[in-house]
Amino acid sequence: MTLVKTDYILKIFNSRQAVHNYLNELRSSGKSIGFVPTMGALHAGHLSMIQLARQKADVIVCSIFVNPTQFNDKKDLENYPRPVEDDIRKLEKVNCHVLFIPDVDEMYTGAEQWNIELGNLDKILEGKIRPGHYQGVTQIVKKLFDTINPQYAFFGQKDYQQFMVISYMIKKLFLKIKLVLCPIIRENDGLAMSSRNIYLSPDDRKNALALSKVLIKAKEHFQTKAIPQIKKEAESFLKSAPGIEVEYFEIFNANSFEATSSKRPTSLIALVAAKVGSIRIIDNMILK
Ligand code: PAF
Repeated sequence: MTLVKTDYILKIFNSRQAVHNYLNELRSSGKSIGFVPTMGALHAGHLSMIQLARQKADVIVCSIFVNPTQFNDKKDLENYPRPVEDDIRKLEKVNCHVLFIPDVDEMYTGAEQWNIELGNLDKILEGKIRPGHYQGVTQIVKKLFDTINPQYAFFGQKDYQQFMVISYMIKKLFLKIKLVLCPIIRENDGLAMSSRNIYLSPDDRKNALALSKVLIKAKEHFQTKAIPQIKKEAESFLKSAPGIEVEYFEIFNANSFEATSSKRPTSLIALVAAKVGSIRIIDNMILK
């Protein structure tokens, strides 16, 4: 791999063993490790996670791996953007220390079985629409955790369900990793940043704004309206929004990750998913 020339030298590893050994040495000299797992095509959302990680840990490790086991659709996997040189340049700019960028053979050795009990978390919302997705996510994240052995791991709020799934796995397996939820970063017009946004046509890009708009409306109405009413209005807003096919709009207890129509839970989150053209978009907002 050619290293892009900048002032900052990022250490790049392709081998699990090599990065594991390197980080073990740093750990034994007292350094804390912060880990930001990604699938690349880095945008400001990812970079803000690296910056947050820099405030918490001494050594920041980012991984880039487009994980085949979490894709339901082969075409989606093939078409997933892989602008590696650009990603390296971006990581250098935010002073990330280590990049782990393995190929598929490094992470998977032939046919492997993985099945972790995740309660209801991998059966609802994204888990229902993308069967097996969170099994694939936990499979790779566990391997990455074993390789990097971080004290802190950073996950974006954009896939809040994924955060809940990883948090469940950490508790279940007694892993000693502190999970940090990183805020959603939005474009100026409100669209949540995502590596897939580049595939939106100009019209779809406009239509996609219905998702952030419906969440903002839900938050605005949260103090004055009951949850079933907020839901009803959100669903009818999304139904009449042009160019989108709604998959769900839900209000969940943000701690138990269960649907609720009560405002009593200490934290509530609205979650939405829709197809905009051929691209699936997800978004969410904490209401309370
Ligand atoms: O959120 C992602 O980018 C991926 O699901 C992750 C956590 C890197 C696992 O492949």
